[in-house]
Formats: sequence, C-alpha cells, structure tokens
Amino acid sequence: MSSPSAAFAACLPGLEPLLAAELRELGADPRPAAGGVGFDADLELLLRCGLWLGTASHVLLRVAEFRCRALGELERKAAALPWAQWLRDDVAVQVTATARRSRLFHTGAITERVERSIQGALGELPAHAPDSDAPVARIAVRFEDDHCTVSLDTSVTPLHRRGYRLATGKAPLREDIAHALVRAAQVPSGAAVLDPFCGSGTIAIEAAALLRGLPPGRLRPPPLQHLALFDAATWARVEGARPEVTEPPRVAAGDRDAGAIESARGNAARAGLADAIEFTCAALRAQPWLNDPAAGPASGRIVTNPPYGVRIGAQRSLLPLYQTFGNCVRSLGAGWSATMIAHDPRLARRTGLPLQAVFTTRHGGLSVTALAAGSPAEEGQ
Ligand SMILES: C[S@@+](CC[C@H](N)C(=O)[O-])C[C@H]1O[C@@H](n2cnc3c(N)ncnc32)[C@H](O)[C@@H]1O
Repeated sequence: MSSPSAAFAACLPGLEPLLAAELRELGADPRPAAGGVGFDADLELLLRCGLWLGTASHVLLRVAEFRCRALGELERKAAALPWAQWLRDDVAVQVTATARRSRLFHTGAITERVERSIQGALGELPAHAPDSDAPVARIAVRFEDDHCTVSLDTSVTPLHRRGYRLATGKAPLREDIAHALVRAAQVPSGAAVLDPFCGSGTIAIEAAALLRGLPPGRLRPPPLQHLALFDAATWARVEGARPEVTEPPRVAAGDRDAGAIESARGNAARAGLADAIEFTCAALRAQPWLNDPAAGPASGRIVTNPPYGVRIGAQRSLLPLYQTFGNCVRSLGAGWSATMIAHDPRLARRTGLPLQAVFTTRHGGLSVTALAAGSPAEEGQ
C-alpha cells in the first residue's frame, strides 16, 4: 500500500460519534456515516486502528471500484484486479455480496464470479471452514446504482471480540458497548471507576485497560496479518508505541452473584488486569465504596449496566433497586457521577438522577440507551 486508500470503520448504530472521536485521536480525518465512519488510511493507520479502536467492529479497506452492469463485465473487471497484492495464497477467502438499485442483483452469481477471478489469480486456496479458528480473508462486494466497490476486512476477528471474555454471566454487554460507555463517562484524570453490577466484568475491564493506556486489540492476532498487505516492520513500530501512564486510577467491580465475580476475575486475568480491578461479591449497598463512602475515593464515575428485567412484570420488581442505586450515587458526594446503560426509561427515572441520553444503540435485540448524570454539585448549579 503505497498511498492512502478509502477505509470504513463499521460500528453498532449510535456509536458513530464516539468512533469518529477515536479515529481523530489516531490521526485520521473522520467522515461519520450511518453504521460507521469513513476515513483515508495508509498501512500504518490501518494497523493502529486494528490495535486501538475500542468502539468499532470491523475496519474495511476499499481496494477497487468500478461501474458494472453485466456478469461478463464483472468477470473481466474482477480478473484484472491485483489480487496477489492483497491476498495470501495460504489463507481461505470468503466473499459476500450485496446489491441495491443495480442491473446485477443476484448476489450468489456476483460472489461466484469474484471467487473465480481470485482463484484465477492465486490458484486453489484453502477451503473456508466456518467452524475452524483458521484465519479467513473476508471480501465484501457491494453494488449500488451499478457501481461496484470491493473491500477487504482488515480484522482477523471482529474487533469487539477482545479475546478475554471466555466466561460470561447473565446478559453480558458487548465489549464495544462497554468501551463506548466508559468513553461516554469522560472519567477525569485521577478519578476512580466503579461498576456495582459487574456481571462478567466487561465494563471494569474496558475501563481499567483504557485508563492504563492498553490497546483494546492487544490480545488479538495483528490486524491484516491474514492479508498480503501486512508488513512486520510497520507492525512492530505500531505495536511498540504505547502511552505512558504513571498513576493508573482505582477501578472496582461488584456483583451479588458469586459465579459472576468468579467469571469476572477470570476474564480480568486473561485481559492482563488481574491486579488492576478490586472485585467484591456483595449486593449493591454492601459494596465497600457504597457502604462507607468516606473510606473510598473522593471522586469517580459509576459506569454500569444494571439488570433490565426484560420479562413482563420483572421491570416493576426492579424499581426499588434503581431507587437504591440513585441513593447510592448521591451518597458518594459531589465528586462522583453515574453513566449507565438502560433499556427501560421508567426504571432509569426511578434513580432520581438527572440523566441525559448520550447514545442509543442495539444490544441483544433490544434498543438500549447510555445515560449520564452530572454530579450532585453540577445539578445544583
Ligand atoms: C445486566 S447484568 C451485567 C452484565 C455485565 N455488564 C457484563 O458485561 O457481564 C446485571 C448484573 O447485576 C447483578 N445484580 C442484580 N441485582 C444486584 C444487586 N442488588 N446487587 C449487586 N448486583 C446485582 C446480576 O447478578 C448481574 O450480574
């Protein structure tokens, strides 16, 4: 890759502004769109994105675009593409196609022609086995208004799968949503973080990693390693550049369920953060910083995903818990505030906190909203 090409970082709906901010931090000039953010990238920036982006699920690199209105034309134009510059002959490929408002609409036929042209350039490739861990080069072919774009997925595995969460409890939050929630909380320098409903520990792990300057992709294989575009020297430079964090803040996580705490500890250990998070198995009110606020940190953010209770009637039974949660946040004093994920606005209102929506996205088939409340001191202003 000698010159920058068009790239697209895909994310869950609603996370685009946070992803654009992350891209800006990495030196990109972001162009937010529905479902992701466009930007121009050279190889080094693509590698940085694969290592550092916390709210993206994939980074696609656009490698070709052309006008095309017939299958024969597609076959000819696809055969002329420099596949060997992009793909390795020892890695399986998976081509997927979409078509809108185009003369070519049979996605199966589009996929077959593109696969045939790749085989023509590289010879017989390993078969793609969906159940195996072997890497696969994913190629997305998109037709819109007879305009064809070909993109390569630069991620070996989806970016939201960090690789630490092998143990899960009830309703685990996707890592990219947990990361977005921590970013939305805007944790001030030196402030602590507490998740009192931690489940499998996702929010606390994402917070501890972010506040210690650890890249979200540190446990995954290097981005682009499954493609011919990979360059080991550039990767070594990207991987070696880490910010220095001298005094990482305290991060605590609690849950009343002993199994959840055991899962969370295991996940934190796999994430390399075993000693970075203070875990407690206790119900909300009994957790150390909430039980005795004077003994805990003077300032911080509660960042959490309380139980939603999606079954009929379950929401009503959770009303007292949300009220208690609101009281706990207030009891921590002016230095603290809360950011939480909520599915049911009635439950969120029961906290009595002045919550404002930061983003709305989808999780487990439900619409969920991240809500942030100012500190009691800010409320009085
Ligand atoms: C929606 S889950 C959190 C999922 C978590 N964000 C994750 O990624 O795995 C809510 C958690 O709250 C815990 N919980 C429910 N009531 C509680 C209470 N009164 N005190 C403390 N934890 C409670 C449950 O055990 C459950 O693990």
